[in-house]
Amino acid sequence: MMNKKSVLVSGGAGYIGSHTAVELIAAGYDVVVADNLSNSDMSGIEGVRAITGVDVPFINVDCCDKQAFAQVFEQYDFDSVIHFAAFKAVGESVADPMKYYCNNLLSFINVIDLMREYGRHNIVFSSSATVYGEAEELPVTEATERKPATSAYGNTKQMCEDILRDATAAYPEIKGIALRYFNPIGAHPSALIGELPRGVPQNLVPYITQTAAGVRECLSIFGDDYPTEDGSCLRDYIDIVDLAKAHVAAINRMVEGKNQCGYEIFNVGTGRAVSVFELVKTFERVNNLKLNYKVAPRRAGDVVAVWADTTLANKELGWRAERSLEQTLQSAWEWEKRVRNIE
Ligand code: UFG
Repeated sequence: MMNKKSVLVSGGAGYIGSHTAVELIAAGYDVVVADNLSNSDMSGIEGVRAITGVDVPFINVDCCDKQAFAQVFEQYDFDSVIHFAAFKAVGESVADPMKYYCNNLLSFINVIDLMREYGRHNIVFSSSATVYGEAEELPVTEATERKPATSAYGNTKQMCEDILRDATAAYPEIKGIALRYFNPIGAHPSALIGELPRGVPQNLVPYITQTAAGVRECLSIFGDDYPTEDGSCLRDYIDIVDLAKAHVAAINRMVEGKNQCGYEIFNVGTGRAVSVFELVKTFERVNNLKLNYKVAPRRAGDVVAVWADTTLANKELGWRAERSLEQTLQSAWEWEKRVRNIE
């Protein structure tokens, strides 16, 4: 018998994975982390262990190496998997698409194959709001049409959703939930785990916190001439701990057999649209500092606006975002200060 209260977290050393491991443990699950540390390091695992007081097992393995990955299934009796392990830089995926297709698709295919071979039942896949592209209706619901992907990264998210849809339809013993994340930001309130981008941050909030810390000179706001109230893009920024809790809700749902069909999709956002200017101003206000920023040209590939209709997740998962943007942006700054030894 597989252990229903045990979860394999692939990519669990990373930003979303480490926060999810903490919330799973808080909810009474045993967690096993598999990660090849290609875009993370042991500090995430150490942080999870420090927060939870649990000596979480960690296996350094590449999910693309099926033989090596199979050993994790041999050794541990988890019945559920949360698959985070993937590359996630949009720009890099356009420059080097094969890197993304090989890694993101093969690792996911291996997970599903191994689940079948070893008789494991539930999987949560990390999808993204990127699948909606420039949506025709806002906020987007799960039924809103997906747009053709504009990056290999986005395409791997769509392709993995389709793989999961087809696999769960063909192999009814496997249940799947795709969570479409909006923009995850912030850090654990303990400041023991958070986002650690390598090199120059590509995302807004790490760029802001690094600018505030003096690591970057000036934040560029990409475009102030969009058709929005203040001219900057609108996004749905979701607190990382809230996002982690959505994974626990998704696992609970499958473990308790409450999922209505073999494959379900949920938006994971706040339902609130926030502009880049609003986010910058809120960051300055709650952390009582001035940020050096300037308006720069639009960034290629950015959509004007995307935010979530979260009705389905609220109703079916019994989950909703709880932390305010203010709390989240404070936690992001607390984390950056800790990383940089500020104060
Ligand atoms: N932005 C800036 N300056 C920066 C960085 C970002 O103005 O230095 C702006 C962007 O133009 C955008 C907003 O801040 O308007 C958010 O940008 P992010 O890069 O933080 O996030 P994106 O919305 O572009 O992308 C994120 C994830 C992707 C995911 C996508 C789905 O990074 O992985 O959401 O919507 F695919």
